[in-house]
Amino acid sequence: MLGDIPTLDDFDLSGKKILLRVDLNTPLDPETDEFLDDRRFQSHRETLRELLDQKCSIVCAAHQGRPGEADFTTLEKHAKRLSEVADIPIEYVDDIFGSQAQKKIKNLGEGECIMLENLRFYSEEVLKRPMDVQAKTYLVLKLAPLFDLYVNDAFAVSHRSQPSVVGFPQVMNAAAGRLMEKEVRIIGDIHENPRKPVTFILGGTKADDGLRVAQKALDSGTDTILVGGVVANILLAAKGYRIGEPSIEFIRGKKMTEQIDVARGMIQRYGDRIVVPKDVALAKDGRRVEIPVGELPQNYRIVDIGHETMKTYKQIISESGTLFFNGALGLFENKLFSYGTMETIKAVAESESFSVIGGGHTTAAARETGVVEKISHVSSGGGACVNMLAGYPLPAIDALKSSAQIHG
Ligand code: 3PG
Repeated sequence: MLGDIPTLDDFDLSGKKILLRVDLNTPLDPETDEFLDDRRFQSHRETLRELLDQKCSIVCAAHQGRPGEADFTTLEKHAKRLSEVADIPIEYVDDIFGSQAQKKIKNLGEGECIMLENLRFYSEEVLKRPMDVQAKTYLVLKLAPLFDLYVNDAFAVSHRSQPSVVGFPQVMNAAAGRLMEKEVRIIGDIHENPRKPVTFILGGTKADDGLRVAQKALDSGTDTILVGGVVANILLAAKGYRIGEPSIEFIRGKKMTEQIDVARGMIQRYGDRIVVPKDVALAKDGRRVEIPVGELPQNYRIVDIGHETMKTYKQIISESGTLFFNGALGLFENKLFSYGTMETIKAVAESESFSVIGGGHTTAAARETGVVEKISHVSSGGGACVNMLAGYPLPAIDALKSSAQIHG
Protein backbone atom coordinates (compact mmCIF):
# COMPACT_ATOMS: atom_id res chain seq x y z
CA MET A 1 0.00 0.00 0.00
CA LEU A 2 1.08 3.56 -0.69
CA GLY A 3 -0.86 5.30 2.06
CA ASP A 4 -4.27 3.80 1.39
CA ILE A 5 -3.63 3.21 -2.34
CA PRO A 6 -3.31 -0.50 -3.21
CA THR A 7 -0.17 -1.39 -5.20
CA LEU A 8 1.13 -4.51 -6.97
CA ASP A 9 2.73 -5.59 -3.67
CA ASP A 10 -0.75 -6.18 -2.23
CA PHE A 11 -1.66 -8.96 -4.68
CA ASP A 12 -0.47 -12.42 -5.66
CA LEU A 13 0.15 -11.71 -9.35
CA SER A 14 1.32 -15.13 -10.43
CA GLY A 15 -0.36 -16.18 -13.70
CA LYS A 16 -3.15 -13.61 -13.32
CA LYS A 17 -5.06 -12.01 -16.18
CA ILE A 18 -4.49 -8.26 -15.91
CA LEU A 19 -6.26 -5.30 -17.48
CA LEU A 20 -3.48 -2.69 -17.60
CA ARG A 21 -4.50 0.95 -18.17
CA VAL A 22 -1.54 2.77 -19.68
CA ASP A 23 -1.27 6.32 -21.05
CA LEU A 24 0.46 6.46 -24.42
CA ASN A 25 -1.23 9.68 -25.55
CA THR A 26 1.60 11.33 -27.44
CA PRO A 27 2.00 14.45 -29.60
CA LEU A 28 2.28 13.50 -33.26
CA ASP A 29 4.17 15.31 -36.00
CA PRO A 30 1.38 17.05 -37.96
CA GLU A 31 3.09 16.27 -41.30
CA THR A 32 4.27 12.68 -40.81
CA ASP A 33 2.04 11.45 -37.94
CA GLU A 34 5.20 10.11 -36.25
CA PHE A 35 5.47 10.22 -32.43
CA LEU A 36 7.26 13.39 -31.31
CA ASP A 37 8.40 11.71 -28.11
CA ASP A 38 8.32 8.15 -26.75
CA ARG A 39 8.81 8.85 -23.08
CA ARG A 40 5.34 7.64 -22.13
CA PHE A 41 6.09 4.29 -23.80
CA GLN A 42 9.33 4.00 -21.83
CA SER A 43 7.59 4.89 -18.59
CA HIS A 44 5.41 1.73 -18.54
CA ARG A 45 8.33 -0.65 -19.09
CA GLU A 46 8.86 -1.47 -15.43
CA THR A 47 5.25 -2.43 -14.75
CA LEU A 48 4.97 -4.47 -17.94
CA ARG A 49 8.18 -6.39 -17.26
CA GLU A 50 7.23 -7.10 -13.66
CA LEU A 51 3.83 -8.47 -14.67
CA LEU A 52 5.40 -10.63 -17.36
CA ASP A 53 8.01 -11.95 -14.91
CA GLN A 54 5.01 -13.11 -12.86
CA LYS A 55 3.66 -14.91 -15.97
CA CYS A 56 0.60 -12.66 -16.11
CA SER A 57 -1.42 -12.32 -19.31
CA ILE A 58 -1.77 -8.63 -20.02
CA VAL A 59 -4.32 -6.58 -21.91
CA CYS A 60 -3.22 -2.96 -22.39
CA ALA A 61 -5.92 -0.31 -22.69
CA ALA A 62 -5.08 3.24 -23.74
CA HIS A 63 -6.24 6.33 -25.62
CA GLN A 64 -4.82 8.75 -28.18
CA GLY A 65 -6.17 12.25 -28.81
CA ARG A 66 -9.78 13.34 -28.55
CA PRO A 67 -12.63 12.77 -31.05
CA GLY A 68 -12.49 15.45 -33.73
CA GLU A 69 -8.84 16.37 -33.12
CA ALA A 70 -6.07 15.78 -35.68
CA ASP A 71 -4.18 13.36 -33.40
CA PHE A 72 -7.19 11.10 -32.76
CA THR A 73 -5.86 7.86 -34.25
CA THR A 74 -5.91 4.10 -33.99
CA LEU A 75 -3.42 2.47 -31.60
CA GLU A 76 -1.84 0.12 -34.12
CA LYS A 77 1.42 2.09 -34.15
CA HIS A 78 1.30 2.47 -30.38
CA ALA A 79 1.22 -1.30 -29.90
CA LYS A 80 4.24 -1.63 -32.17
CA ARG A 81 6.21 1.09 -30.40
CA LEU A 82 5.37 -0.24 -26.92
CA SER A 83 6.44 -3.68 -28.03
CA GLU A 84 9.81 -2.30 -29.23
CA VAL A 85 10.38 -0.18 -26.14
CA ALA A 86 9.44 -2.88 -23.61
CA ASP A 87 11.10 -5.56 -25.75
CA ILE A 88 8.12 -7.92 -25.62
CA PRO A 89 5.68 -9.05 -28.32
CA ILE A 90 2.43 -7.06 -28.13
CA GLU A 91 -0.38 -7.84 -30.54
CA TYR A 92 -2.71 -5.01 -31.55
CA VAL A 93 -6.42 -5.92 -31.53
CA ASP A 94 -8.75 -3.85 -33.67
CA ASP A 95 -11.55 -3.87 -31.08
CA ILE A 96 -12.29 -2.61 -27.57
CA PHE A 97 -14.90 -4.83 -25.94
CA GLY A 98 -16.72 -6.50 -28.84
CA SER A 99 -16.68 -10.24 -29.55
CA GLN A 100 -13.25 -10.11 -31.23
CA ALA A 101 -11.63 -8.48 -28.19
CA GLN A 102 -13.46 -10.75 -25.75
CA LYS A 103 -12.36 -13.89 -27.61
CA LYS A 104 -8.73 -12.71 -27.69
CA ILE A 105 -8.79 -11.92 -23.97
CA LYS A 106 -10.34 -15.27 -23.04
CA ASN A 107 -7.75 -17.17 -25.11
CA LEU A 108 -4.74 -15.16 -23.96
CA GLY A 109 -1.99 -17.43 -22.63
CA GLU A 110 0.39 -16.88 -19.72
CA GLY A 111 3.02 -14.24 -20.46
CA GLU A 112 1.17 -12.96 -23.54
CA CYS A 113 0.29 -9.33 -24.12
CA ILE A 114 -2.19 -7.56 -26.40
CA MET A 115 -3.30 -3.96 -26.88
CA LEU A 116 -6.91 -2.96 -27.47
CA GLU A 117 -8.02 -0.20 -29.84
CA ASN A 118 -8.16 3.49 -28.78
CA LEU A 119 -10.64 3.55 -25.87
CA ARG A 120 -11.94 6.93 -27.01
CA PHE A 121 -13.35 5.33 -30.17
CA TYR A 122 -16.04 4.30 -27.69
CA SER A 123 -18.23 7.34 -26.97
CA GLU A 124 -18.85 6.75 -23.25
CA GLU A 125 -15.11 6.87 -22.54
CA VAL A 126 -14.91 10.64 -23.06
CA LEU A 127 -17.75 11.45 -20.66
CA LYS A 128 -16.55 12.64 -17.27
CA ARG A 129 -18.89 11.31 -14.62
CA PRO A 130 -18.71 9.97 -11.03
CA MET A 131 -17.09 6.59 -10.52
CA ASP A 132 -20.31 4.76 -9.59
CA VAL A 133 -21.83 5.85 -12.93
CA GLN A 134 -18.68 4.90 -14.87
CA ALA A 135 -18.80 1.46 -13.25
CA LYS A 136 -22.04 0.80 -15.16
CA THR A 137 -20.72 1.63 -18.65
CA TYR A 138 -20.57 -1.10 -21.30
CA LEU A 139 -16.78 -0.94 -21.30
CA VAL A 140 -16.65 -1.92 -17.63
CA LEU A 141 -19.59 -4.36 -17.71
CA LYS A 142 -18.18 -6.27 -20.70
CA LEU A 143 -14.49 -6.32 -19.77
CA ALA A 144 -14.30 -6.52 -15.98
CA PRO A 145 -15.55 -10.16 -15.69
CA LEU A 146 -12.71 -11.32 -17.96
CA PHE A 147 -9.91 -10.20 -15.60
CA ASP A 148 -8.46 -11.03 -12.19
CA LEU A 149 -7.05 -7.57 -11.55
CA TYR A 150 -7.19 -4.02 -12.94
CA VAL A 151 -3.84 -2.21 -12.78
CA ASN A 152 -3.75 1.52 -13.36
CA ASP A 153 -0.33 2.71 -14.52
CA ALA A 154 -1.77 5.65 -16.46
CA PHE A 155 -0.84 8.49 -14.12
CA ALA A 156 -1.09 10.95 -17.01
CA VAL A 157 -4.86 10.49 -17.29
CA SER A 158 -5.52 10.33 -13.53
CA HIS A 159 -7.28 13.70 -13.58
CA ARG A 160 -10.05 12.42 -15.86
CA SER A 161 -13.05 10.72 -14.28
CA GLN A 162 -13.53 8.43 -17.28
CA PRO A 163 -14.76 4.79 -17.31
CA SER A 164 -11.37 3.20 -18.00
CA VAL A 165 -9.84 5.27 -15.21
CA VAL A 166 -12.42 5.18 -12.40
CA GLY A 167 -15.03 2.58 -13.43
CA PHE A 168 -13.13 -0.70 -13.12
CA PRO A 169 -11.90 -0.24 -9.52
CA GLN A 170 -15.52 -0.09 -8.36
CA VAL A 171 -16.30 -3.62 -9.54
CA MET A 172 -13.02 -5.51 -9.12
CA ASN A 173 -9.67 -5.65 -7.36
CA ALA A 174 -7.45 -2.79 -8.47
CA ALA A 175 -3.87 -1.68 -7.92
CA ALA A 176 -1.56 1.17 -8.88
CA GLY A 177 1.19 0.14 -11.31
CA ARG A 178 4.82 1.03 -10.62
CA LEU A 179 4.74 4.25 -12.64
CA MET A 180 1.58 5.43 -10.88
CA GLU A 181 3.14 4.58 -7.53
CA LYS A 182 6.33 6.52 -8.30
CA GLU A 183 4.53 9.61 -9.60
CA VAL A 184 2.15 9.79 -6.65
CA ARG A 185 5.02 9.45 -4.20
CA ILE A 186 7.27 12.09 -5.81
CA ILE A 187 4.59 14.63 -6.69
CA GLY A 188 2.86 14.15 -3.34
CA ASP A 189 6.15 14.98 -1.54
CA ILE A 190 6.77 18.11 -3.63
CA HIS A 191 3.23 19.29 -3.11
CA GLU A 192 3.61 18.91 0.66
CA ASN A 193 6.97 20.74 0.93
CA PRO A 194 7.67 23.11 -1.97
CA ARG A 195 10.65 25.46 -1.72
CA LYS A 196 9.36 29.07 -1.94
CA PRO A 197 8.75 31.07 -4.06
CA VAL A 198 6.68 28.70 -6.19
CA THR A 199 6.04 29.40 -9.88
CA PHE A 200 3.73 27.56 -12.27
CA ILE A 201 4.36 27.97 -16.00
CA LEU A 202 1.21 27.00 -17.87
CA GLY A 203 0.71 26.79 -21.62
CA GLY A 204 -0.82 24.46 -24.18
CA THR A 205 -4.21 24.45 -25.84
CA LYS A 206 -6.22 22.95 -22.95
CA ALA A 207 -6.88 26.40 -21.52
CA ASP A 208 -9.84 25.31 -19.39
CA ASP A 209 -7.55 22.86 -17.60
CA GLY A 210 -4.80 25.48 -17.34
CA LEU A 211 -7.02 28.14 -15.78
CA ARG A 212 -8.56 25.67 -13.35
CA VAL A 213 -5.07 24.64 -12.22
CA ALA A 214 -3.93 28.27 -11.96
CA GLN A 215 -6.91 29.11 -9.78
CA LYS A 216 -6.32 26.27 -7.35
CA ALA A 217 -2.56 26.86 -7.27
CA LEU A 218 -3.03 30.56 -6.46
CA ASP A 219 -5.59 29.70 -3.78
CA SER A 220 -3.10 27.30 -2.20
CA GLY A 221 -0.34 29.91 -1.98
CA THR A 222 1.55 29.68 -5.30
CA ASP A 223 3.43 32.94 -5.78
CA THR A 224 3.40 33.44 -9.54
CA ILE A 225 1.80 32.00 -12.68
CA LEU A 226 3.52 32.57 -16.03
CA VAL A 227 1.45 31.80 -19.11
CA GLY A 228 1.77 31.06 -22.80
CA GLY A 229 -0.24 29.27 -25.49
CA VAL A 230 -4.02 29.52 -25.53
CA VAL A 231 -4.06 30.15 -21.74
CA ALA A 232 -2.16 33.41 -22.39
CA ASN A 233 -4.41 34.47 -25.25
CA ILE A 234 -7.49 34.00 -23.07
CA LEU A 235 -5.93 36.01 -20.22
CA LEU A 236 -4.89 38.77 -22.65
CA ALA A 237 -8.46 38.92 -23.97
CA ALA A 238 -9.75 39.03 -20.37
CA LYS A 239 -7.43 41.97 -19.68
CA GLY A 240 -9.06 43.84 -22.54
CA TYR A 241 -6.50 43.30 -25.32
CA ARG A 242 -8.19 42.67 -28.65
CA ILE A 243 -6.20 39.58 -29.59
CA GLY A 244 -7.49 39.52 -33.18
CA GLU A 245 -10.02 37.44 -35.09
CA PRO A 246 -7.74 34.46 -35.97
CA SER A 247 -6.88 33.90 -32.28
CA ILE A 248 -10.49 34.45 -31.19
CA GLU A 249 -11.60 31.99 -33.87
CA PHE A 250 -9.13 29.42 -32.52
CA ILE A 251 -10.54 29.83 -28.99
CA ARG A 252 -14.07 29.56 -30.35
CA GLY A 253 -13.12 26.39 -32.24
CA LYS A 254 -11.88 24.87 -28.98
CA LYS A 255 -15.24 25.85 -27.38
CA MET A 256 -13.46 27.96 -24.79
CA THR A 257 -14.98 31.40 -25.30
CA GLU A 258 -16.57 31.32 -21.84
CA GLN A 259 -13.11 30.84 -20.34
CA ILE A 260 -12.50 34.56 -21.01
CA ASP A 261 -15.00 35.38 -18.23
CA VAL A 262 -13.33 32.85 -15.93
CA ALA A 263 -9.99 34.51 -16.64
CA ARG A 264 -11.45 37.98 -15.98
CA GLY A 265 -12.56 36.88 -12.51
CA MET A 266 -9.09 35.46 -11.83
CA ILE A 267 -7.33 38.67 -12.84
CA GLN A 268 -9.56 40.68 -10.51
CA ARG A 269 -8.85 38.30 -7.68
CA TYR A 270 -5.12 37.61 -8.08
CA GLY A 271 -3.85 40.65 -10.01
CA ASP A 272 -0.13 40.65 -10.72
CA ARG A 273 0.44 37.13 -9.45
CA ILE A 274 -0.68 36.10 -12.95
CA VAL A 275 1.95 37.38 -15.42
CA VAL A 276 0.85 37.63 -19.07
CA PRO A 277 3.03 38.24 -22.16
CA LYS A 278 4.18 41.81 -22.93
CA ASP A 279 4.79 40.91 -26.55
CA VAL A 280 3.73 38.08 -28.84
CA ALA A 281 4.78 36.45 -32.10
CA LEU A 282 2.32 36.34 -34.96
CA ALA A 283 2.28 33.94 -37.92
CA LYS A 284 2.33 36.45 -40.78
CA ASP A 285 2.42 34.84 -44.23
CA GLY A 286 4.66 32.02 -43.01
CA ARG A 287 6.99 34.40 -41.11
CA ARG A 288 7.47 35.14 -37.41
CA VAL A 289 6.66 38.76 -36.56
CA GLU A 290 6.84 40.03 -32.97
CA ILE A 291 4.79 42.95 -31.67
CA PRO A 292 4.04 44.43 -28.22
CA VAL A 293 0.58 43.40 -27.00
CA GLY A 294 -0.35 47.12 -27.07
CA GLU A 295 -0.23 46.94 -30.89
CA LEU A 296 -2.92 44.28 -31.06
CA PRO A 297 -5.26 43.49 -32.75
CA GLN A 298 -3.76 42.23 -35.99
CA ASN A 299 -5.33 39.92 -38.45
CA TYR A 300 -2.81 37.14 -37.76
CA ARG A 301 -2.86 34.35 -35.20
CA ILE A 302 -0.78 34.71 -32.01
CA VAL A 303 1.54 31.70 -32.04
CA ASP A 304 4.27 32.36 -29.45
CA ILE A 305 5.46 34.65 -26.69
CA GLY A 306 7.98 37.36 -27.71
CA HIS A 307 11.55 38.19 -26.66
CA GLU A 308 10.58 40.96 -24.18
CA THR A 309 8.24 38.56 -22.39
CA MET A 310 11.01 36.00 -22.29
CA LYS A 311 13.27 38.44 -20.41
CA THR A 312 10.64 38.88 -17.68
CA TYR A 313 9.89 35.15 -17.52
CA LYS A 314 13.63 34.32 -17.24
CA GLN A 315 13.99 36.73 -14.34
CA ILE A 316 11.06 35.20 -12.43
CA ILE A 317 12.26 31.67 -13.22
CA SER A 318 15.77 32.40 -11.89
CA GLU A 319 14.32 33.70 -8.60
CA SER A 320 11.95 30.74 -8.03
CA GLY A 321 12.52 28.01 -5.45
CA THR A 322 10.16 25.53 -7.13
CA LEU A 323 9.06 25.52 -10.76
CA PHE A 324 6.32 23.53 -12.46
CA PHE A 325 6.13 23.73 -16.24
CA ASN A 326 3.40 22.16 -18.35
CA GLY A 327 2.24 22.91 -21.89
CA ALA A 328 3.93 24.55 -24.87
CA LEU A 329 4.05 28.36 -24.82
CA GLY A 330 3.56 28.58 -28.58
CA LEU A 331 2.97 26.52 -31.70
CA PHE A 332 5.81 24.24 -30.67
CA GLU A 333 5.60 21.83 -33.62
CA ASN A 334 6.66 24.64 -35.96
CA LYS A 335 10.35 25.58 -35.48
CA LEU A 336 9.56 29.26 -36.14
CA PHE A 337 7.27 29.37 -33.14
CA SER A 338 8.98 27.02 -30.67
CA TYR A 339 11.22 29.81 -29.29
CA GLY A 340 9.16 30.52 -26.13
CA THR A 341 8.91 26.87 -25.13
CA MET A 342 12.57 26.11 -25.90
CA GLU A 343 13.95 29.17 -24.08
CA THR A 344 11.71 28.59 -21.09
CA ILE A 345 12.76 24.96 -20.72
CA LYS A 346 16.41 26.04 -20.88
CA ALA A 347 15.82 28.70 -18.22
CA VAL A 348 14.04 26.16 -16.00
CA ALA A 349 16.92 23.70 -16.40
CA GLU A 350 19.55 26.37 -15.65
CA SER A 351 17.76 27.66 -12.54
CA GLU A 352 18.70 26.39 -9.11
CA SER A 353 15.09 25.62 -8.27
CA PHE A 354 13.48 22.24 -7.78
CA SER A 355 11.89 21.76 -11.20
CA VAL A 356 9.08 19.53 -12.40
CA ILE A 357 7.97 19.34 -16.01
CA GLY A 358 5.15 17.34 -17.52
CA GLY A 359 3.26 16.99 -20.77
CA GLY A 360 4.30 15.76 -24.18
CA HIS A 361 5.41 19.05 -25.72
CA THR A 362 7.26 20.27 -22.64
CA THR A 363 9.11 16.99 -22.35
CA ALA A 364 9.86 16.91 -26.08
CA ALA A 365 11.31 20.45 -25.75
CA ALA A 366 13.52 19.34 -22.84
CA ARG A 367 14.81 16.45 -24.92
CA GLU A 368 15.41 18.54 -28.02
CA THR A 369 17.40 21.12 -26.05
CA GLY A 370 19.32 18.34 -24.27
CA VAL A 371 18.41 19.50 -20.74
CA VAL A 372 16.32 16.56 -19.47
CA GLU A 373 19.03 15.53 -17.02
CA LYS A 374 18.94 18.96 -15.38
CA ILE A 375 15.22 18.78 -14.55
CA SER A 376 14.53 17.49 -11.03
CA HIS A 377 11.48 15.41 -12.04
CA VAL A 378 10.14 14.75 -15.53
CA SER A 379 6.60 13.56 -14.94
CA SER A 380 4.82 11.27 -17.37
CA GLY A 381 1.73 13.40 -16.75
CA GLY A 382 0.97 16.91 -17.91
CA GLY A 383 -2.49 17.89 -16.66
CA ALA A 384 -2.48 15.16 -14.01
CA CYS A 385 0.84 16.37 -12.64
CA VAL A 386 -0.14 20.05 -12.35
CA ASN A 387 -3.59 19.18 -11.00
CA MET A 388 -1.99 17.21 -8.20
CA LEU A 389 0.67 19.87 -7.59
CA ALA A 390 -2.02 22.53 -7.39
CA GLY A 391 -3.82 20.51 -4.73
CA TYR A 392 -6.69 18.82 -6.57
CA PRO A 393 -7.52 15.21 -5.65
CA LEU A 394 -7.06 12.90 -8.65
CA PRO A 395 -10.13 10.78 -9.58
CA ALA A 396 -7.92 7.78 -10.49
CA ILE A 397 -6.35 7.77 -7.03
CA ASP A 398 -9.70 8.16 -5.31
CA ALA A 399 -10.99 5.21 -7.35
CA LEU A 400 -8.05 3.00 -6.37
CA LYS A 401 -8.53 3.87 -2.71
CA SER A 402 -12.22 3.11 -2.88
CA SER A 403 -11.49 -0.24 -4.57
CA ALA A 404 -9.40 -1.20 -1.54
CA GLN A 405 -12.30 -0.30 0.72
CA ILE A 406 -14.89 -2.17 -1.35
CA HIS A 407 -12.87 -5.29 -2.22
CA GLY A 408 -9.97 -5.27 0.24
C1 3PG B 1 -2.79 13.85 -21.31
O1 3PG B 1 -2.07 13.74 -22.31
O2 3PG B 1 -2.77 14.87 -20.60
C2 3PG B 1 -3.68 12.72 -20.94
O3 3PG B 1 -3.49 11.62 -21.77
C3 3PG B 1 -5.12 13.14 -20.93
O4 3PG B 1 -5.54 13.54 -22.20
P1 3PG B 1 -6.81 14.50 -22.37
O5 3PG B 1 -6.38 15.87 -21.90
O6 3PG B 1 -7.13 14.46 -23.83
O7 3PG B 1 -7.90 13.95 -21.51
